Amino acid sequence: MAERETWTTRVGFIFAAVGSAVGLGNIWSFPFQTGQNGGAAFLLVYLAVVFVIGFPAMLMEFVIGRRSKQNPISAFRELGFENWSFAGTLGVLGSAVTLAFYSVIGGWVLSYIVGSATGTYFGNVAGFFGTVSAGPLAVGTHALFMGLTVAIVAFGIQGGIERATKVMVPAILVLLLGLAAWGFTLEGATAGYEYYLSPDFGYLADNLTSIVPSAVGQAFFTLSLGFSVMIAYASYLGSDDSLPADGSAIVVINTLVALLAGFVVFPVLLSIGVEPGSGGVGTAFVSLAGAFAQIPGGELLGVGFFIVLLLAALSSAISLLETPVSYVVDNYDYDRKVVATVLGGTIFAAGIPTALSTATLGWYNDIVFNLLLPLVVLLFALFVGWVAFDESVDELAQGSSLGTGFTALWLWWVRLVIPAAIGLTLVLGVQDLALKAQLIESAVVLG
Ligand code: PHE
Repeated sequence: MAERETWTTRVGFIFAAVGSAVGLGNIWSFPFQTGQNGGAAFLLVYLAVVFVIGFPAMLMEFVIGRRSKQNPISAFRELGFENWSFAGTLGVLGSAVTLAFYSVIGGWVLSYIVGSATGTYFGNVAGFFGTVSAGPLAVGTHALFMGLTVAIVAFGIQGGIERATKVMVPAILVLLLGLAAWGFTLEGATAGYEYYLSPDFGYLADNLTSIVPSAVGQAFFTLSLGFSVMIAYASYLGSDDSLPADGSAIVVINTLVALLAGFVVFPVLLSIGVEPGSGGVGTAFVSLAGAFAQIPGGELLGVGFFIVLLLAALSSAISLLETPVSYVVDNYDYDRKVVATVLGGTIFAAGIPTALSTATLGWYNDIVFNLLLPLVVLLFALFVGWVAFDESVDELAQGSSLGTGFTALWLWWVRLVIPAAIGLTLVLGVQDLALKAQLIESAVVLG
């Protein structure tokens, strides 16, 4: 079997991990969640959750990956706890299911790049969304997006993922900064910033029990946790650099990108007086496209924005595909290119139903987000905190100058605080799913 690859440099690993973290979650969900949940007040909660829960949770996946130098399924066997492999398997499954619909949204973004350049949607924003989001066109763009993902992963860690993200991540940052500067010049800038950032502490206080769990879920998702992606990426770390240092760089950059996205989205929306209403992913596409259709220079602004979205989605999608690919490549003597193509094709097929119906897409998303993701992070926390804690603490200390005080604190955090936070998220997530199922049932009854 060929020798296992490693990242060429530490920066290569950080870029790849940032590429995974920065995605639709940052540029799409984050600004809208903030706007809808009390602006700057929500932001404070969210930032606290990202650093207090997300960051230590990221270190859990890092230690499993770097210690074992194996894919997320074999990692547990390598560490001597084969009966925990199911946790990694669930994570890999989560990656595959997420990629199945994530790629569909990536396909929408492709359509919107073309639509912005040609002005196709300018006359009929809602109609355009309907055409590109569900149906034959959506299946086609889903295939295209998956093809791009496969093409990068096929070339491996150094030649594929590292090389691609070294270009994509800086491009995202530069373009987004440019767009935010443009946003500053728009008529709606002040109103946009106000909507985004004015703190509504009253709203926050009233809704804290629903906001905190959804902030926990969002924090895991945006940091790419719970799908074993960070186990896979950390398994390619050759040298013993400081995991807390790398992790904090990743968390900080990821947060800055999310914040910056709000400085683009809201000036654009408010410049045409659109109240960024509630509603899912689709509503956001429609209202933003509606704004590009009216702003002077909207074609260019739209193309720039959707290119950022494409790069962000693609650099996340490759990490989602790498996770299952790494399992097969580690364990069987198949060529990586073949493995990436076959798995990419299978996941593409699994995503077709979501390319035919946005409601189905919503279900995939809810199941992953509310159920699978918190469950897997919980399993990792139990494993790292209560099962393989000697190995984990030892691995975290490798290359870090933070000392035993930090590792001890981290261990107890993993043992107690993270499971408690997830327990809360799971209970509320299941409630949410049950509520939706009930609503559908009563709608069926009502005919
Ligand atoms: N972090 C990505 C985003 O914010 C999503 C993602 C989750 C990617 C898990 C990989 C793994 O869009």
